[in-house]
Amino acid sequence: MTLGITQSVALLGLDGALVTIEVDIADGIPMYSLLGLPDAALNESRDRVRAALINSSESWPNRKVIVSLSPAWLPKSGSSFDLSIALAILIAQQALPQEPLNEVLVLGELALDGKIRAVRGVLPALIAAYKSGIKRAFVPQENLAEASLMTQMQIIGFTSLNEVLRFLRTGELAIAPQLELSVEDVGYQLDFSDVAGQSAARFAAEVAASGGHHLLLIGPPGAGKTMIASRLPTILPALNIDQALEVTAVHSIAGTLGNRSPMSRLAPIVSPHHSASRVAIVGGGSSVIKPGACSLAHHGVLFIDEAPECASGVLDALRQPLESGTVTIARSVGSLTFPAQFLLILAANPCPCGKYSGRGRACTCSSVQVRRYLGKLSGPLMDRIDMRVQVEPVTRVEMAQTELGEPSSVIAARVLAAREKAKARFIAEPWSLNSEIPSRALRTQYKPERAAMNFLHDELDKERLTARGLHKIIRLAWTLADLNGNTIPQLSDVKLAHRLREGSEL
Ligand SMILES: Nc1ncnc2c1ncn2[C@@H]1O[C@H](COP(=O)(O)OP(=O)(O)O)[C@@H](O)[C@H]1O
Ligand SMILES: [Mg+2]
Ligand SMILES: [Zn+2]
Repeated sequence: MTLGITQSVALLGLDGALVTIEVDIADGIPMYSLLGLPDAALNESRDRVRAALINSSESWPNRKVIVSLSPAWLPKSGSSFDLSIALAILIAQQALPQEPLNEVLVLGELALDGKIRAVRGVLPALIAAYKSGIKRAFVPQENLAEASLMTQMQIIGFTSLNEVLRFLRTGELAIAPQLELSVEDVGYQLDFSDVAGQSAARFAAEVAASGGHHLLLIGPPGAGKTMIASRLPTILPALNIDQALEVTAVHSIAGTLGNRSPMSRLAPIVSPHHSASRVAIVGGGSSVIKPGACSLAHHGVLFIDEAPECASGVLDALRQPLESGTVTIARSVGSLTFPAQFLLILAANPCPCGKYSGRGRACTCSSVQVRRYLGKLSGPLMDRIDMRVQVEPVTRVEMAQTELGEPSSVIAARVLAAREKAKARFIAEPWSLNSEIPSRALRTQYKPERAAMNFLHDELDKERLTARGLHKIIRLAWTLADLNGNTIPQLSDVKLAHRLREGSEL
């Protein structure tokens, strides 16, 4: 009797556990049993593996085949075990030597013709295997770019089962495994210089990027709300390597890397449609658990256009990630946690017809309709939005200006400088952005100057401000101070922060 043994990984959220695949082939009535909590997709591996082996001119054992995946209690899902099972079956049949597959992570789905298909979650699987001491991996060729981020490991990409077998039997590789990777960001063509006028919204975007403050843009269709939101990644600092890896890992699990270079250091932006479900926004799913938009926006921007049109409850589901920076999804076999630290940008029309404006234009909605419309954005969520900005359509004069708006690179430099100041101030603290200053610290070390505090306390006394609002304003005032060179927020910073929070004209 020969056992065939290979290694793969089962993912639970971003975490993975090494799984050992053992195949035993014994005499007896032909049968196949797969042990170790497989889900439906994994159970179907039998048919894929069988067809792939036969179509690759290998033999299928017409005997008693037992495939055991351990640890047995760990739930295992998906098709990424196909290749590891196929190789273990060949070893058990003594059609392959065991030794070259010791300590190798094997990932890949098999097509019926023996081709190797890309799988989700390659990067987190590699990270998990590396932590368990594995230094080599076989991955689908299509996942090689993403896999190559694990520079500590020796990784080979394959396109077919035959290619793997040739390599294991002769040491020959069909294609050179080296892949050129550049750390360059993928061409992101958008730039703030495209946006004419809109000084208030442009300023709010700069403040949002500098301090991590959430923003609501209110204005009629065509005013440039989407334009501004989609340009936020161009003024956010480039991701550091750890952040870029985390972003790629989340996108790898969701299977959405296609839109993004795995090496991109550009902050991601994710714009779910307002008809998106709660699961699409926060993550979940019935069979395969996938991260939602707010995890795909980790270290970047979550932009929800026409936010009042979202189904009730969908936006409220953002409260947990906004509070904790993570999303926890409960499942029957335990809960999963995905990271979800994002900058939230909401856009809204001012009323159902979209034309309402303080200056009274062609809006056909009743005053009740107008009030109800923005009222759909619930109080608890709005409490977490730091800035509200009215965006009026650009005038003909502004559009006709030949001078371009300030380019993203100039704004990004100011954002970076402001962030550096905050980081230096918080050097001994566990946070680095002004939006993250805990309330307790705001009452002690991080108070604005006296006149500013007096102004805020006045507003509190007149009940024009809640305690939570007061803290939000102080955090925002710190960012304004960092942007304009004040070492501590002055009365002017706090007043401006107050106006930004209230949505008053600047
Ligand atoms: N401030 C602006 N500067 C330049 N072009 C603008 C501006 N506002 C709107 N546009 C033009 O109108 C189009 C629609 O703008 P968009 O950002 O989608 O508006 P909104 O999201 O507010 O409905 C843009 O693609 C752009 O061509
Ligand atoms: Mg829009
Ligand atoms: Zn209207």
